[in-house]
Amino acid sequence: MTNVGILGIGSYAPEKVFTNFDFEKILDTSDEWIREMTGIEERRFAEDMETSEMAFYAAEEAIENSGVAKEDIDFVIVATSTGDYKFPTVATMIQDRLGLNNVASMDQLAACSGFIYGLSTAEMFVKSGNYKNILVVGVDKLTKITDFEDRSTAVLFGDGAGAVVVGEVEEGFGIKSFELGSKGSGGKYLYGDKEKGYIRMNGREVFKFAVRQMGESSVAVTEKAGLAKEDIDMLIPHQANIRIMNAARERMGLPYDKMSVTVNKYGNTSAASIPLSIDYEVKRNRIKPGDNIVLVGFGGGLTWGAVCLTW
Ligand code: ACO
Repeated sequence: MTNVGILGIGSYAPEKVFTNFDFEKILDTSDEWIREMTGIEERRFAEDMETSEMAFYAAEEAIENSGVAKEDIDFVIVATSTGDYKFPTVATMIQDRLGLNNVASMDQLAACSGFIYGLSTAEMFVKSGNYKNILVVGVDKLTKITDFEDRSTAVLFGDGAGAVVVGEVEEGFGIKSFELGSKGSGGKYLYGDKEKGYIRMNGREVFKFAVRQMGESSVAVTEKAGLAKEDIDMLIPHQANIRIMNAARERMGLPYDKMSVTVNKYGNTSAASIPLSIDYEVKRNRIKPGDNIVLVGFGGGLTWGAVCLTW
């Protein structure tokens, strides 16, 4: 059986920092409320930079770190809800800009769970023997669909990108299990409106769903991988809200320092949040070869997904 894992990783966060204090100037809100309710202190805004450009920077770094030659990348998957256009897709745009062969490319939309969906799809494609090295990007420019007059959503979101190259790894390493799910009946709690595509959300309902699902899915993929909770070296949850993340961590029985936290710096970057966080931890040497990691996310749809892997 082929073992499939992450060969290289990269990320991109736009330069423009927008702090909670900046929000105090444009909305009836406070740094204290935002920090206490969400854990967010600041986020990045892409401003004029398009989604495909953030994806390109993250992908370039991932390919370079993977050691895989560009001509050996044979599939491109981009998880995003905020592509530059409806079509062409971001995947085709970066396939061209990166100078890859004319390989298959597609965008996948599962909102904030998108990266987990993309990673699981890539794993299956490589395991099938049909593809060898797949570029998977999670990218979102949520500021494009944020209503900056709505304080209950505006303060939550930011822009960013993360990317990985997925391919064959040595025995004992790589993806051990995954779980994906959706519940369309909850779609009404989190959606882009018909007028402008702005994010509309019932925060309470999304919160309740996320707390339960993130915990359940984290435990499920750990068990499916044949591991015990205490075998997990790091939990990398979707960075939506520190209170939701802590609930999942507690369900896993893990201490705070075994969870990746970037929500304070980047806010909720949707499909980018998990790969951005993996890269953040790798760059700080907080993830080492052999570590067991659980990735878990939830998002609009409602959708969810989790992956357990050995780095
Ligand atoms: N500043 C100050 N006060 C605010 C703000 C703000 N930015 N936003 C809301 N409030 C007020 C509300 O008006 C309300 O006031 P009231 O009691 O006078 O009516 C009060 O704070 C409480 O509001 P709730 O919405 O009931 O607060 P809640 O405890 O639910 O927390 C939050 C809100 C932080 C948004 C929480 O519900 C949450 O995190 N939900 C999950 C959101 C999430 O993770 N979304 C993921 C999106 S993923 C994707 O696909 C893009």
